[in-house]
Amino acid sequence: MEKFSLVLLLVFVLVAAAHGVAENNIYDDIAMLRELDEDLNFGVTEIEEELLETPGWRSERGGKTLFNVDSFGAVGDGVADDTQAFVSAWNKACSTPKSVFLVPAGRRYLVSATRFIGPCGDKFIIQIDGTIVAPDDPKRWDPNNLRIWLDFSKLNKVVFQGSGVIDGSGRKWWDSSCKRNKSNPCRGAPTALTIDSSTAVRVKDLTIQNSQQMHFVISRCTSVRVTNVLVSAPGNSPNTDGIHITASTNVAIQNCKIGTGDDCISIVNASSAIKMKNIYCGPGHGISIGSLGKDNSVGIVSKVVLDTALLRETTNGVRIKTWQGGSGYVRAIRFENVQMDEVENPIIIDQFYCDSPKSCQNQTSAVQISQIMYRNISGTTKSAKAMKFACSDTVPCSHIVLSNVNLEKEDGTVETYCNSATGFGYGVVHPSADCLRFSDKKTHPDNTKDTELITLISRNNPIHTEL
Ligand SMILES: *[C@@H]1O[C@H](CO)[C@@H](O)[C@H](O)[C@H]1NC(C)=O
Ligand SMILES: *[C@@H]1O[C@H](CO)[C@@H](O)[C@H](O)[C@H]1NC(C)=O
Ligand SMILES: *[C@@H]1O[C@H](CO)[C@@H](O)[C@H](O)[C@H]1NC(C)=O
Ligand SMILES: *[C@@H]1O[C@H](CO)[C@@H](O)[C@H](O)[C@H]1NC(C)=O
Repeated sequence: MEKFSLVLLLVFVLVAAAHGVAENNIYDDIAMLRELDEDLNFGVTEIEEELLETPGWRSERGGKTLFNVDSFGAVGDGVADDTQAFVSAWNKACSTPKSVFLVPAGRRYLVSATRFIGPCGDKFIIQIDGTIVAPDDPKRWDPNNLRIWLDFSKLNKVVFQGSGVIDGSGRKWWDSSCKRNKSNPCRGAPTALTIDSSTAVRVKDLTIQNSQQMHFVISRCTSVRVTNVLVSAPGNSPNTDGIHITASTNVAIQNCKIGTGDDCISIVNASSAIKMKNIYCGPGHGISIGSLGKDNSVGIVSKVVLDTALLRETTNGVRIKTWQGGSGYVRAIRFENVQMDEVENPIIIDQFYCDSPKSCQNQTSAVQISQIMYRNISGTTKSAKAMKFACSDTVPCSHIVLSNVNLEKEDGTVETYCNSATGFGYGVVHPSADCLRFSDKKTHPDNTKDTELITLISRNNPIHTEL
């Protein structure tokens, strides 16, 4: 454990002692912090070893067999339908070892909804240098299968790479969304890129834009590494999540810039060991765990780390959202080194999430939320409630830890809202999160003892501490 955590433990013991908290609770919390540290100390190493050293397809002379979609009849003028050429090229490339499926640069390929199914040969590379564009008219979709555009499944050890663009041409879909116009029927729309039921997948350097709905879905996968991917859609495009992770484990998302009309990244049920590092988000709805628990369902997400992010003018910063009536849990989560720039709800847990035209009733069951750590988070908030822990009355949020959080609003009025949430803060916590320590909101803590302790600790320790 780092020195930082040890100091944290020391301060916590002393502060807790000063407040006369029962010893058992102190040790419970210390144990929890240790456990959290250990839980979150996972590496997404397996995939790095397997795929990090994948050489560019050009550099390997003779070793790779190239399958260029142009050789299979693709026209690449953005008008002619190149779907069949893509399917033929895929079938050949996929069944050949060490092959490259190539979408060459400088052209626009119109491709309609297609499933690309593996497993393919070893060391398969999907090289996208050109633009793949979707038909812009929703009528070109099979009404019974509106949810996919480019859908890849059952792959093992593949690399998606290139300087190309995947463009969903989503404008007509957005206009026909019930979020845009309440007289439209609520129906699903395609995800631009789906990678489903696959293992050891690397995705790098691609641009995914203007998706009909979600941009990039990773579902039922293990060991996925996404780097340098750019996602872009207008801030008012409905439900256009950037990267959506569902039922997947061991996923790393790194150096990605995402601007959309919904969550930049969303992580939902049956996902764990997810690392996000160096993420830019904006515009968008922030980085979210959830939603979970809709229609009384089970939602489970654990072991998620976001390290280093800049969120600019998003509606939320780091968010956990669950519906009333769900079950399951969200546990062992850390959001750290995050800069917020004019974010509406920088830190938010919302157990009353209700993204439905009908209002949602409170229920007695909920997805349980615990062991959530926020560390080194600073910047500006648009709303006064810079931190919001809105938890279920019957299933409280517990073990929320805040450390070096500093959120400001232009007019200086910032506060923390707590409902049925417990935890503690360490270091600078602004606005104060005392409402996590005292279930009775009217009780004000006696800060003098804390101050004495902190003075004592800072004298013996170079780390700046302040409660
Ligand atoms: C909403 O859709 C209805 C029916 O298609 C249309 O008449 C109306 O003009 C639309 N409203 C807006 C604001 O686009
Ligand atoms: C969530 O995942 C669990 C398996 O981990 C599954 O049993 C459950 O049905 C899933 N819930 C939903 C809503 O898909
Ligand atoms: C805190 O987070 C910011 C923003 O990501 C980062 O620049 C800074 O280095 C972090 N500070 C520490 C002590 O890690
Ligand atoms: C549900 O409970 C929360 C917390 O007690 C409360 O703020 C909210 O108004 C309730 N909502 C409904 C619809 O009763």
